[in-house]
Amino acid sequence: MPQTIAVLDFGSQLTQVIARRIRECQVYSKIYHFATPAAKLREDGVVGIILSGGPQSVYAKTAPHPDPAIFELGVPVLGICYGVQLMGHFLGGKVALSKEREYGHGHLTIKQPGKLFAGLPRRLRIWNSHGDKLTKLPPGFKATAISENSPFAGIEDTKRRFYGIQFHPEVFHTERGVDMIRNFLVGICRARQDWTTKDFIAHAVADIRAKVGKGRVLLGLSGGVDSSVAAALLHKAIGKQLTCVFVDNGLLRKDERNYVEALYKRNFKIDLRVVDASKLFLRRLKGVTEPEQKRKIIGRTFVAVFEQSLKSIGHAEFLGQGTLYPDVIESVSIGNNPASLIKTHHNVGGLPERMKLKLIEPLRELFKDEVRQVGAALGLPKEVVWRQPFPGPGLGVRVMGDITADKLEILRNADFVLQDEMMKSGFYWKVWQSFAVFLPVKTVGVFGDERTYDYVVALRIVESIDAMTADWAKLPYDLLQKISSRITNEVRGVSRVVLDISSKPPATIEWE
Ligand code: XMP
Repeated sequence: MPQTIAVLDFGSQLTQVIARRIRECQVYSKIYHFATPAAKLREDGVVGIILSGGPQSVYAKTAPHPDPAIFELGVPVLGICYGVQLMGHFLGGKVALSKEREYGHGHLTIKQPGKLFAGLPRRLRIWNSHGDKLTKLPPGFKATAISENSPFAGIEDTKRRFYGIQFHPEVFHTERGVDMIRNFLVGICRARQDWTTKDFIAHAVADIRAKVGKGRVLLGLSGGVDSSVAAALLHKAIGKQLTCVFVDNGLLRKDERNYVEALYKRNFKIDLRVVDASKLFLRRLKGVTEPEQKRKIIGRTFVAVFEQSLKSIGHAEFLGQGTLYPDVIESVSIGNNPASLIKTHHNVGGLPERMKLKLIEPLRELFKDEVRQVGAALGLPKEVVWRQPFPGPGLGVRVMGDITADKLEILRNADFVLQDEMMKSGFYWKVWQSFAVFLPVKTVGVFGDERTYDYVVALRIVESIDAMTADWAKLPYDLLQKISSRITNEVRGVSRVVLDISSKPPATIEWE
């Protein structure tokens, strides 16, 4: 049994980020409901408690409060933001109500490093996001750090091993925040640093087995990182009780379907059903040029085909999904509050309820990079684990205007050349995305002695951190030249290659 750090969740959207930072320190943590009885925490052998932030005021009628007995357990407690107000409220300090929240950067000046700020510079940039403020320390506490807006930005009671910080150490914007968390876990709670990806997998496997029992799980495999890792993990846990469905929508890249079949069916011996619905998709898309309409048709058709195929596969109790913890975007350039910038993905929304399937989402607490680590540890090849993102509507949003089988064929062949050269040169792994776009524009060219009148292909190669902003990648000219000449030589129907040199914003990454 690993030593557990309990994170009590008071409703902050950053609670999962705290858990992630704890994993980064190789310590095991579990997120608990805020009112979990202290006795339960004792029973679980908790060696330290973190009180998360939260959007409420401690005085609000509906304010989440912990079991006061957690302060009697004799284990160290770290209050973050709302967690500090709770300490003030429960331990005899004073908290001032404030109508406005205070967001953004501040500066921390450490007066007495103690164990929490050990080894850190005396001045650090921090990230604030709080409403109420602690105005009087509870007995036994002293202030260890101040900020421009609080004389109690860091507080401690070393006797009881209670610590509090007004700001958010878990977000990227707080300098050395992870070191503060590590100091708490290791220096104060004395937690063992032995929690690894392997342990995560072992835990997840046990958890899946306990949940699924003898039941059956269906999973839609897209070939992307998330669903691939979910499939590999579920397969490790329940083997033949897992059936994966891969829908060929006719909008896949060259050899995509064969690749997925070879990897999962032959290599992993997963029960994989491939549903060829390409004709249906193309029929429904015929003559449609408006991008949003194309997307809607593709989305709706996917759900219909997927639902039908699940019915024909036979009874199952569970639907597996590669849902990740929604990406928290940690970029200063976007908005003010990192917590408000959360995206959720649900690619088959509504379907589980209609089909009475229980969701099973073994990756839902993980972040993308952690999912990649899990994938690698499960033996998935680098090509899958480090795969570039590919949009759900596939080549449907990369053929401009109406979609036909011929245009898709030209795009597939051009895109294949691009991927091949990106892989060979190693740039595939260095950029965010690299793909070809089909332009329904004919231009004049010359091939041998013949005049040609053929289509244009654009190369879209971008660098990005989170896809919210992107910049076109400055690849070496000789590589671009090779890609261009190979496309015009090898791909019939293309006589001109252009390079997209637009950033996002104003252009998006995909063209439609
Ligand atoms: P844009 O074009 O909005 O794309 O700059 C941002 C990122 O999202 C991907 N993308 C999608 N992914 N379903 C997806 O799963 C979609 O409909 C979709 N549209 C765009 C795009 O490839 C890029 O990485």
